[in-house]
Amino acid sequence: MRNALNKLADSVKDDEELRNRFENQLDSFFSLFRRYLVEKSSGNTLDWEKIKSPSAEEVIPYKSLSEHQPESVSSLSKLAVLKLNGGLGTSMGCVGPKSVIEVREGNTFLDLSVRQIEYLNRQYDSDVPLLLMNSFNTDKDTEHLIKKYSANRIRIRSFNQSRYPRVFKDSLLPVPTHYDDPLDSWYPPGHGDLFESLHASGELDALIAQGREILFVSNGDNLGATVDLKILNHMIDTGAEYIMELTDKTRADVKGGTLISYDGQVRLLEVAQVPKEHIDEFKNIRKFTNFNTNNLWINLKAVKRLVESTALQMEIIPNGKTIKRNGQEVNVLQLETACGAAIRHFEGAHGVVVPRSRFLPVKTCSDLLLVKSDLFYLEHGSLTIDPSRFGPNPLIKLGSDYKKVSGFNARIPHIPKIVELDHLTITGNVYLGKNVTLKGTVIIVCSDGHKIDIPNGSVLENVVITGNLQI
Ligand code: UTP
Repeated sequence: MRNALNKLADSVKDDEELRNRFENQLDSFFSLFRRYLVEKSSGNTLDWEKIKSPSAEEVIPYKSLSEHQPESVSSLSKLAVLKLNGGLGTSMGCVGPKSVIEVREGNTFLDLSVRQIEYLNRQYDSDVPLLLMNSFNTDKDTEHLIKKYSANRIRIRSFNQSRYPRVFKDSLLPVPTHYDDPLDSWYPPGHGDLFESLHASGELDALIAQGREILFVSNGDNLGATVDLKILNHMIDTGAEYIMELTDKTRADVKGGTLISYDGQVRLLEVAQVPKEHIDEFKNIRKFTNFNTNNLWINLKAVKRLVESTALQMEIIPNGKTIKRNGQEVNVLQLETACGAAIRHFEGAHGVVVPRSRFLPVKTCSDLLLVKSDLFYLEHGSLTIDPSRFGPNPLIKLGSDYKKVSGFNARIPHIPKIVELDHLTITGNVYLGKNVTLKGTVIIVCSDGHKIDIPNGSVLENVVITGNLQI
């Protein structure tokens, strides 16, 4: 592997700066790869018996944080906001970055993030900068989109995360042999790469030089991740180097990572680390009551200390993919890390259990229907739930015809009213007309090869519609 990586580095000839950056990335990749081999052979898994529920100091409720005082807005001068923006919209059938999917009233995820920060700065006369961590997959489209904000009252900085070589699953050798090899030879190594890339790009030192102390990080698709002064001031008051926002699990979220106490440290436990025989226990919402929203508050000087001492060793997530080579499907492997897993390295790190409203991710078109609907109103880039809504968000399950945004938009061009909806299932070729209202439990199942049209103005309440009806 080392020889192959050296050869790969040699493929950059005339540009010394590019060569250095590339070499550093390949070195980091090599350390990750070596650690993967060691851990794989030693069967490095957690000892289930040592896993304890976090103590009352390790995970605290949001309600226990003190109200922020008017003068505490001055702490905004210590804050920078970062959106993780390396991912593509492929799972929702879109080409390009996920953040450029239109979510609401012509605004993309990125537009909404910009509007949130602009409003914050206007409201408090602050100058909080917005950083975007892009990947080689997303940087061009993102740069294009943010150009329109150059004259606005917001400082947007973007930098690229690392580009690591994929490896062949059989030989464990790198797929690319040249710097310019096709895009599918490379991968962005997960959001755990944030620390290294923030440092390597020079943005970390620049932020520290500007007096910024805390970075609020969140997924680009989490529309609930707004700046919260109570958490910011709690972070400053306690001197904690890292705060993870958690939220209570419902039966619908059995997958997310949870905080545990292990050998006297707070750690993130992901489903992939759980031994098979304990999976049901892990999914038990009474035992592991909350999960990581990936809204993280991180002390920048601590990041500098940990990166420079190469102390950050996050759990490796091996991810298998297939690519095409010479007309054949080949199995490749990419090694990723997650930024939540870094929690155990930071002093005073702890979790805060926040209201569900701070976790509003859009992973599927069912989530898209929710955030586009009248259940929320949009104000200064933030979505707030309609006050007349009672209970949790409705459970929405759209079938495979709605997997891609194009299929969703074609069949549901007008978003129905859902403030009084509890549960919606739609499968098959169902078309919703204008001004449709859905209440209670609505199930519409269209058989293969048929079509169901729901006419304009329909009000459907606690109904099951099946077959090929044109009602
Ligand atoms: P994920 O694709 O990891 O979503 O992206 P997820 O399945 O919800 O994963 P977790 O549970 O949060 O880890 C989460 C965010 O991280 C960014 C994506 O753009 C998205 O905003 N991301 C992901 C990166 O910036 N770089 C990466 O290499 C991977």
